[in-house]
Amino acid sequence: MLYRALGNSGIQVSAIGLGTWAIGGTWWGGTDEADSIAALRRGLDLGINLIDTAPVYGFGLSEELVGKAIKGYDRDKVVVATKVGLAWHTTEGQLFFEMGDKRVYRCLRPASIRHEVEQSLRRLGVDYIDLYQTHWQDSTTPIADTMGALMELKAEGKIRAIGVSNASVAQLREYLAAGELDSNQPLYNMLDRGLEAEALPFCREHAISILSYSSLALGLLTGTMDPGRQFGEGDQRRRNPRFTPENIARMNGLLEQFAPFRAQYGLDQTQLTIAWTISRPGVTCALVGVRHARQTEALAPGAVEIAAADLAAMDAIIAGFAA
Ligand SMILES: NC(=O)c1ccc[n+]([C@@H]2O[C@H](COP(=O)([O-])OP(=O)(O)OC[C@H]3O[C@@H](n4cnc5c(N)ncnc54)[C@H](OP(=O)(O)O)[C@@H]3O)[C@@H](O)[C@H]2O)c1
Repeated sequence: MLYRALGNSGIQVSAIGLGTWAIGGTWWGGTDEADSIAALRRGLDLGINLIDTAPVYGFGLSEELVGKAIKGYDRDKVVVATKVGLAWHTTEGQLFFEMGDKRVYRCLRPASIRHEVEQSLRRLGVDYIDLYQTHWQDSTTPIADTMGALMELKAEGKIRAIGVSNASVAQLREYLAAGELDSNQPLYNMLDRGLEAEALPFCREHAISILSYSSLALGLLTGTMDPGRQFGEGDQRRRNPRFTPENIARMNGLLEQFAPFRAQYGLDQTQLTIAWTISRPGVTCALVGVRHARQTEALAPGAVEIAAADLAAMDAIIAGFAA
């Protein structure tokens, strides 16, 4: 496994991180507890040390499953990353979405952060969180107040590093001005490259690690997505226009063009997609959502770096496809 520095935190993270949105079940058509735990443990056994979760994934369930999965492993060998700021215990902040009986607010007020961190520590069954990330930004709370609360948690030893997600460059600047920022978690993959214009160079310049999310574009970049696949009830991909049979077939056509690179690096397409992601200068770790041990196992060989000339050649193929 390839390990890299997480910002200036002193923490080393694997270049592949296990994402746990899907195992929360919500948005993904349910979850299987035993499979989920096995998927995470397989990763830890293979040297993948970073697990990314959030309170809102399954409204606490994902954090609880992570807690069960890491039990029995040396605590200092696991990098537990969770998030704060999508809250359903409060009506402060900005209403973000409603699901069932839950009204979820973007809330990064200090009192709410204090409440949330205790809930996360309890569900995870740990006494500190390695990386604590603001999940979505809350325009009703000054970033200096949010960062102030996070820095206090760090001083108290409840968290070891501070990160953000879904933040603009202007917001990154404000976080940096108010405290210590080690990571940024944006949407980033071969199809979603908005990050590259501004945020990627900014993060490189300021030693902020990028943890890419939806690195496989929800499975579309694996090369194994069958155009005829039927997504279960509650799976968000059912209504996502990227997952029509026509578009899946089109995407598989793009991935077919990477055959020479798969052969050269001895990787399958899922692994090559991961390798492409973690080879982008500035990207520290590709987060990948897993639900089965066999999926986790299949990812690990993707922790390799692709030569710059090959990355450029792959980019030319992607650009030709987009055109
Ligand atoms: N900060 C944020 O706002 C935010 C937003 C989204 C995600 N995230 C984080 O980023 C993580 C990763 O993103 P993601 O889960 O959205 O999407 P992703 O990693 O792009 O895709 C995950 C899906 O890919 C498929 N897959 C995984 N391994 C595979 C393999 N070896 N072979 C074939 N298919 C495979 C699985 O789908 P099937 O099991 O259905 O085949 C899985 O559910 C999340 O879990 C979460 O931790 C954060």
